[in-house]
Amino acid sequence: MRLGFVIGESKPTFVNAITSRALPVGEYVKIGSDEGEILGLVERSSVSSAAFADVKNFDEASESTEIAEINKRDKTYVADIGILGFLEDLKRGHSTLPAIPPIPGTEITLPSDPELEEIFSPKRKGWVNIGSLLRNKTIDARINLDKIVSRHLGILAMTGMGKSNLVSLITKQIAELKGTVIIFDYHNDYTSLSIPQINVMDAKINPRRLDADQLSEVLEIRDGANVQQRVLRMAFTKQVRESKEFWSKLENEVDIIINSEDRRLKELRTSAYRVRDIIEDAQKRFEDILDPDMGDPISFIKESRTNILNISELSEKQANVAVAFYLQRLLRDRKDASIARHGKTDRVFRFNSPIFVIIEEAHVFIPKDHDTSAKYWAAKIAREGRKFGLGLGIVSQRPRSIDLNVLSQMGSFAIMKIIQEDDQHQIASAAESTSRELISQITSLNIGDAILVGQWTNLPSLVHIKEVKEKVTGADQSAVDAWAKADKMKGVAVESTQGLIQKDLLLD
Ligand SMILES: Nc1ncnc2c1ncn2[C@@H]1O[C@H](COP(=O)(O)OP(=O)(O)O)[C@@H](O)[C@H]1O
Ligand SMILES: [Mg+2]
Repeated sequence: MRLGFVIGESKPTFVNAITSRALPVGEYVKIGSDEGEILGLVERSSVSSAAFADVKNFDEASESTEIAEINKRDKTYVADIGILGFLEDLKRGHSTLPAIPPIPGTEITLPSDPELEEIFSPKRKGWVNIGSLLRNKTIDARINLDKIVSRHLGILAMTGMGKSNLVSLITKQIAELKGTVIIFDYHNDYTSLSIPQINVMDAKINPRRLDADQLSEVLEIRDGANVQQRVLRMAFTKQVRESKEFWSKLENEVDIIINSEDRRLKELRTSAYRVRDIIEDAQKRFEDILDPDMGDPISFIKESRTNILNISELSEKQANVAVAFYLQRLLRDRKDASIARHGKTDRVFRFNSPIFVIIEEAHVFIPKDHDTSAKYWAAKIAREGRKFGLGLGIVSQRPRSIDLNVLSQMGSFAIMKIIQEDDQHQIASAAESTSRELISQITSLNIGDAILVGQWTNLPSLVHIKEVKEKVTGADQSAVDAWAKADKMKGVAVESTQGLIQKDLLLD
């Protein structure tokens, strides 16, 4: 069916069109050409009415409605169409742009469903369904899992727009393929995912395995407290690390400083007392988090499973140390295993297959404005992970605060609604330039709608993500419902106390 014509000035990447109806942004169209059919994406769409062009007051506007209704030529529908490439090439997964721009007057038509399916829902190994095209709801949106593990993924959107839902969906798909996923669960969102043999655990820190600076962070010694940090560095000896009684040995070492009559050590005495208190206090406060007897934290992560590391009980600094620790170890283990695979060895490795690691609240761990150890390791994985089969998924509602270096290393993105302009700029600079027009649409998306760009699809696309029903924790709580329920419960409580009183009376 003829939809319209190319008009104005065309480029090999871009045409304007006049159409017979308003085209929705995100719709795919076909543009004829001598070299073959070209696929285009509606990036902007506008309608104007001649009758309303110079309307100056209410009465004129009112008359214009009648004129507009009678005059068939009153409306002008204009669409800006980005050229995605030759249809035949796109079906095979690569995009070739025409050398010659489409000539004005060229027909615009709609692609058929089978044509779109070949591009957006390839039935190939490793491609999984995550929803449907937003403007062509009958077409499945499939993504290439291999590409996110090898080239990383960024999921960016405001709170409540469906980031965790997409993480859950991808995780479930990987679980079905027996892949290994690790999620650093900041808000305790993923523990209720229904995945067989899901491995849920509290992320704990083994203080023996930290360096002195990291220990200082998890004990929450203040940033500027240099003398306290010095005391801790002196006390945290190899013997402490290896001692059976980790904490008491550490305290002993601090006591040695406290009790020393050495002139130089005497200067540290006040701070040493403080460190002693901090260590004692931390053992109680962080009993569930710091565990010198837990062994190697990495040994609790299971290959071929979904691993949920609950970090919701950790302070921001502790979470940072924990995330850095896991990232460092995962990279090292995958590196060893990959290098060994190329040589000959009988060594058995913990992880013999690729891993996908997901970091929620990525702006906390990979911040733009200061260095953290988690950021150091995340950046390293972003750069090197591909070689060793260690994929990174970063999830955030504040892309403007994420380190741009790391963000730009993400080979694919799912972007949902975001209204902050700084966030949009940051996303535009991190994503490939061909998708910028599409990204400008992100203010108009609804919950669960996403723009997919990068290597995990054949083409940038606008999709609606499937909802994972069992994931209920991220939903907004209704205060009104909760109040009503609480009030009802109060009624029950009163009744039951009355019951008790009566029973008591009877007993008397
Ligand atoms: N694809 C979707 N389709 C329909 N509803 C969704 C979708 N994604 C999310 N939601 C709804 O929005 C709520 C918040 O989603 P969530 O994934 O927790 O957002 P975020 O992680 O971005 O804050 C969910 O509990 C769910 O009810
Ligand atoms: Mg979330």
